[in-house]
Amino acid sequence: MSAPTFGPGVAEGSVRIFDTTLRDGEQAPGAGLTVAEKIQVARQLVRLKVDVIEAGFPAASPGDFEAVRRIAEESKGVSVAALARCRDGDPQRAVEAIRVSERPHLHVFIATSDIHLKHKLKMSRDQALAEAVRWVRYGREQLGRDAEVEFSAEDASRTDPDYLLAVYAAVVEAGASTLNIPDTVGYAIPAEFGSLVARVKALVGDEAVVSVHCHNDLGLATANTLAAVQAGARQVEVTINGLGERAGNASLEEVVMALRTRPTQFPTLTSHVQTEQITPASRLVSLLTGFSIQPNKAVVGANAFAHESGIHQDGVIKNPLTYEIMTPQSVGLSGSQLTIGKLSGRKGLQKKLRDLGYHIDGPELDLVYREAIALADRKKEVTDADLIAIAEQQVAEVHQAVGLVDWEVTSAHGGDSRGHVTLTVEGAERYGSSRGNGPVDALYGAVDAAIEPVLAWRPALMSYEIRAISGGEDAQGQVVVRCRRSLDAAPDSETVSGQGLSTNIVEASLDAYLVATNKLRAIELGESGAVIPPPRRGEELP
Ligand code: KIV
Ligand code: ZN
Repeated sequence: MSAPTFGPGVAEGSVRIFDTTLRDGEQAPGAGLTVAEKIQVARQLVRLKVDVIEAGFPAASPGDFEAVRRIAEESKGVSVAALARCRDGDPQRAVEAIRVSERPHLHVFIATSDIHLKHKLKMSRDQALAEAVRWVRYGREQLGRDAEVEFSAEDASRTDPDYLLAVYAAVVEAGASTLNIPDTVGYAIPAEFGSLVARVKALVGDEAVVSVHCHNDLGLATANTLAAVQAGARQVEVTINGLGERAGNASLEEVVMALRTRPTQFPTLTSHVQTEQITPASRLVSLLTGFSIQPNKAVVGANAFAHESGIHQDGVIKNPLTYEIMTPQSVGLSGSQLTIGKLSGRKGLQKKLRDLGYHIDGPELDLVYREAIALADRKKEVTDADLIAIAEQQVAEVHQAVGLVDWEVTSAHGGDSRGHVTLTVEGAERYGSSRGNGPVDALYGAVDAAIEPVLAWRPALMSYEIRAISGGEDAQGQVVVRCRRSLDAAPDSETVSGQGLSTNIVEASLDAYLVATNKLRAIELGESGAVIPPPRRGEELP
């Protein structure tokens, strides 16, 4: 293989995993993350060993710019990409945000299908081509020959192929080192998409890496991505849990595990992903976005390795290969269950957490340890699932504008519930009470009554979900809520998630509401109030 003129290229035998959870994934309606949360996800992506983290769209908001810049600054051993439209202002912001990265990756895009050109951009084909060339050249000049400059032809799968090839040829000439072929609206069918990829590959040879970015509107995102790899694509754009616009993007865990599980279909091709980190990554993204994972979701769903029917159970007991094409351990699910008791040590807990894919030390470990020991006092058995839930809970830390001092609720059959809370709101103690339709509603009303006079808004609850962690009567309940600020509850206003964990589900509900309230306050303060914890010790380098 001859070396490409520009960019780092992709090593022979590798498929580059470009994770866009923090950009396209975050575009899923209601999946907004704070800067601190994006940094937490980026750290997990580094552990997962993806090749590229698309950290955001810096021109979209100051918060996105800050998140991309912070991720570019601290993430080592990985490329950090930023998205930009081919329009004055965007690429400049993107370059500014990623310049500090060890491996900057600029991603510029413009739509090329007639339907987008005519109705959205109101541009001719020639104009779009000229803009594409202009901003690819700009990126190359700014970042130098070794950096990655990627060009995406938005809606490529509905673009006239001859025009599409002319655009790709022109941007390669201008310095693009990766050509991305987005199936923006999930319209393509695998064989057809594979042929398109093969045509682009034949055009550019080794001059540029061919990449694909598939949406899941027809449920074909993973299939199209794999067909593209078979046709010569060497970068795949994917997200954790398939999160993304509308029906989402191709899911990282499906694509990576297909490459690993079916090597004969992808001869000599591998990804560098640490697949044991898939489950922690999936859980983290679900927890922080508040998007739960459907139980039958491939690879990461709760039932992905569960066997219900007697015939299947019998087969798996005799030999797991009868009904399991990959092991639960290979995606980070541990086989063991019983873990910690009251006499367990801090070191043992840390090792256990590491085995489960959670790298925690310092004050965070102290917190998890205290919580786990306290739980062991209340609960017969503390299981892996309990420990994971406690560890995950620690990542949801934000600026404490509102703190809980005390709460009480009364609730009776057929009667009203009445909730009382004492909170600290921006340092001052405040009391609130409210009637409600059940204890959770009453407490949420009480919180609103206490905070509204100070903050001038209250959270608008968009969704509420309760998950039981492990089984049994004394199981912990994890509550995940999604909220917006009441004043700007327009459909596109920022939605945040809040998480609470307790053996008392009313308390878990209250905690989740307060976490969401604090995030909304941090966003209101322009994120400057959001606590972004420093990288965990020993994790600056992968
Ligand atoms: O779906 C799409 O076309 C995109 C591009 C910006 C790559 O997300
Ligand atoms: Zn997309």
